[in-house]
Amino acid sequence: MALMDVVHYGDPILRKKCDKVNDFKGLNKLIDDMFDTMYEENGIGLAANQVGIDLNLFIIDISDIEEEGERIHIFINGEIIGSSGESWFEEGCLSIPDVRLDIKRPEKITFKYQDLDGEVHTDEIEGLLARAIQHEVDHLNGIFIVDRVSETKKITVDKELKAIKKEAIDKAKYRKAFVL
Ligand code: NI
Repeated sequence: MALMDVVHYGDPILRKKCDKVNDFKGLNKLIDDMFDTMYEENGIGLAANQVGIDLNLFIIDISDIEEEGERIHIFINGEIIGSSGESWFEEGCLSIPDVRLDIKRPEKITFKYQDLDGEVHTDEIEGLLARAIQHEVDHLNGIFIVDRVSETKKITVDKELKAIKKEAIDKAKYRKAFVL
């Protein structure tokens, strides 16, 4: 088991569109470590850039909340190619600790992605899994939940955001200083 550092709002890696995965070999260790990290942090989804890795992949496990269906989900090079309906749900984010916001998103999506073997799938997904996928796809495109609410709503969490951002920028500098 290896835990990774979850990077927070303010760190530049969370604002960039992540690189496509071309090499599927050697992803197992990263994905295992991401699951360990996500469970440790009590999250239900985690995108690679949230642990500082610039790759288009994310993991989800919603089995604590919804028991039906598969327990573990791994999505690589995912793309939402269709959506319909709408729903509201209060979302939190491991990269923005202690901030929760009501976010409106499509209820159903058509999601195209690759699995660990590189095989392409296109699935119709709805409910909590569709919601979690949309949240993680946003991360991989540099988008946060705070970008999905009105300015008026965003101001209500301004204090928290500023504090998280300051710490994240300091941490990012510190991390870079040790790259030799
Ligand atoms: Ni998040």
